[in-house]
Amino acid sequence: MGCQSNQSNTNPGKNATEPTFAIAQGAQEIDPKAVAADLVAKYGPTGMDGRVSTLIPGFDAPFYQAGLAGYSDAAMRIIARKHGCPLCITEALLDRTLLAGGKGFAKADLGDIAGNVPGGEEDHPLIGQIMGSDPSEMAAAALKMIEQGSRSNKEYRSMVNGGVDDSRSDGSDSFAGIDINLACPVKKIAKKSRGGHWLREPEGAIAILKAVRDVLPSRIPLSVKLRRSFDETPEMKRKFEYLFDAAYDLGCSWVTVHGRTVEQKYVGPSRWDPLKELVDRHPDRLIFGSGDVWDVNQIFRMIGYTGLTGVSVARGCIGNPWIFKQARAILAGDDPMAPTIAEQRAVLEQHFELLLAVNAKTRDPEFNTARNMRKFGIRFAAHHPNADEVKQGFIYAKNFEDWRVVLERWYEIGVNP
Ligand SMILES: Cc1cc2nc3c(=O)[nH]c(=O)nc-3n(C[C@H](O)[C@H](O)[C@H](O)COP(=O)(O)O)c2cc1C
Repeated sequence: MGCQSNQSNTNPGKNATEPTFAIAQGAQEIDPKAVAADLVAKYGPTGMDGRVSTLIPGFDAPFYQAGLAGYSDAAMRIIARKHGCPLCITEALLDRTLLAGGKGFAKADLGDIAGNVPGGEEDHPLIGQIMGSDPSEMAAAALKMIEQGSRSNKEYRSMVNGGVDDSRSDGSDSFAGIDINLACPVKKIAKKSRGGHWLREPEGAIAILKAVRDVLPSRIPLSVKLRRSFDETPEMKRKFEYLFDAAYDLGCSWVTVHGRTVEQKYVGPSRWDPLKELVDRHPDRLIFGSGDVWDVNQIFRMIGYTGLTGVSVARGCIGNPWIFKQARAILAGDDPMAPTIAEQRAVLEQHFELLLAVNAKTRDPEFNTARNMRKFGIRFAAHHPNADEVKQGFIYAKNFEDWRVVLERWYEIGVNP
């Protein structure tokens, strides 16, 4: 299931339009290092509000890797973490798919990972994101996720219409939190709201948040992903405000707001002013922002412009895990470094290996991995001095051998700069 449309391996589709600058007057003049220095002065070396790190130990920097359907599997997450990403979120998983059982709940470790399950020790802390239409199904799916499916599917299914007994949540959770997706723009199914379509019906969304918060053990933080509105009408903006406030009233720890409307999907610029207004109105709330974070400077400019607690990095980290290392460098007062060819090659090889493990149980793991890696390869190519040729090479890499040829041709250490 994905929050994406028209996606293919080599054509990123409508969602992955060319980078845009967010609409935020003067933001490009903000000095990222000055913002980082302010954060460090306020919160200490991590630059992170201590309330967040208390909720999720290990979430120790003001940014995280967003859920990205079709990309942010265990392989991408582990690569991000190796580069300093403090927290990852799974892509949106449909409540019904989760309740139907299946591979998503094998207690995960490398070799067993299938798409969206935690990749073992290396993949923590991880937040599981769920999306759906029915409060009781969402609640059962959230509990199943936290418990890693330790009860039978029948038992979880029976909870959908009955009460939920959370006595078995013993604290050894694989997921550090649950995030509810109220942002995905993909069309409603069978006239039922889900994702961002709930912004038109806030009462329904509130029923979901309440049901999920009630079922989760209190130690598990619940967060929410929202768009800044369904569309530009005053009515929808009011509905957003109502839902945003309700989320905190119901006990959600934070909300991440994407600065595009649902109608906008992923096209056109994000607006940071509505995010700034939210922070101005609610300075004590933990609020994260999303939209047009294409490079490390934008992480700090978004925080500097809006005053947000932190930023979710989405398309800006596809093929660019160095963004996290660079952000950590800026927090430490250092200059961010571009990756060398040797570093690029090492990461391309590691990503391939990890994806091979993710695909281990598919019929032809090598073929599937080479195919899946193409969409990453074309993004990694942007760091190479011969970006266009390297990109073409990855686009035509149909199998493991083709992939190797591109690496040998363009990433041979000592030959390329
Ligand atoms: C291909 C694709 C898949 C996405 N999947 C998810 C998802 O599963 N869950 C989610 O919360 N957001 C998802 N998003 C939205 C991103 O997390 C992010 O909010 C959005 O891309 C705006 O940030 P950006 O402009 O910096 O990319 C997706 C975006 C794209 C482009």
